Amino acid sequence: MARLEVTETFAGIALPGHLHTQESLRFASSFQFRDTDVLIATYPKSGTTWMQEILTLIHSKGDLEAAKTIPNWDRAPWLEHTYSKDLLQETSGPRLITTHLPCQVLAPALRKSKAKVIYMARNPKDVAVSFYHFHKMAKFLPDPGSFEDFLISFLDGTVQYGSWFDHVKGWLSQQAELELFYITYEDVHKELGRSVERLADWLGCPLQPEEIREIQQHCSFSSMRENAMVNYTLVPCEIMDHSQGRFMRKGTVPAPPPPPGGVTAVKGLGSSPGLCPSTDCLSLQPL
Ligand code: A3P
Repeated sequence: MARLEVTETFAGIALPGHLHTQESLRFASSFQFRDTDVLIATYPKSGTTWMQEILTLIHSKGDLEAAKTIPNWDRAPWLEHTYSKDLLQETSGPRLITTHLPCQVLAPALRKSKAKVIYMARNPKDVAVSFYHFHKMAKFLPDPGSFEDFLISFLDGTVQYGSWFDHVKGWLSQQAELELFYITYEDVHKELGRSVERLADWLGCPLQPEEIREIQQHCSFSSMRENAMVNYTLVPCEIMDHSQGRFMRKGTVPAPPPPPGGVTAVKGLGSSPGLCPSTDCLSLQPL
């Protein structure tokens, strides 16, 4: 299937031209945030869709109507995408907005308001693996080649959306300047209910225990994997080649390291001191 490969470069970062134009990027960088806006900022593959779903349901106090009937990109549009301008300008109430842009592009506009930012990060190894698989299905991204080649570009920061390291450093450096809540994919994975509660409290929308339970159930990996409003199966095959895999791929976190000085049994190797039980940590294969 042909790739829709055109690149837009903005603030020194390459972005897919299928989704961005210079005009849409300029619109994002000079956006007039409102105090009631909530912005989800992530590097790609860090749990963006998960956070969009969680925040949709915090706003609705666990009512599933919007989550089951409106695609995530309409509920929480990407600020920098070509389709967002009218959608965002037409929304009168509190807006849920998403961005993959680096902090240096948005911080000046954000500082002019009290808009809230939720920055979600994920460990770079899982981001790189997830991004590699996503490149295979997303026709608006370049052919990733082998995983080894892709990993070198990812570590160099020459992939589309730029360097993971700069993205995380940039947003976290603004913690004191912005109304910013920092959370990781791994936190949410470990304690979904507690994460929902913390986010809801920070946003000033405290929830009842049964509302948290409802959100927790709906935002599980298995439930979201089946929800066409978030699993990207609505996107036509010319844009996302669904024969190459699923957007909701594995949704896992790395196995915890063995206890210090502990003895871990590794299948096929017997007992070896300090060996990581998951070959995932050692190999360069996109598992
Ligand atoms: P994997 O490819 O590792 O499975 P983004 O939305 O930023 O593009 O991130 C996509 C990643 O988040 C995918 O990771 C996807 O499976 C994972 N994800 C989405 N919803 C999830 C959920 N409810 N639980 C766990 N992981 C989820």
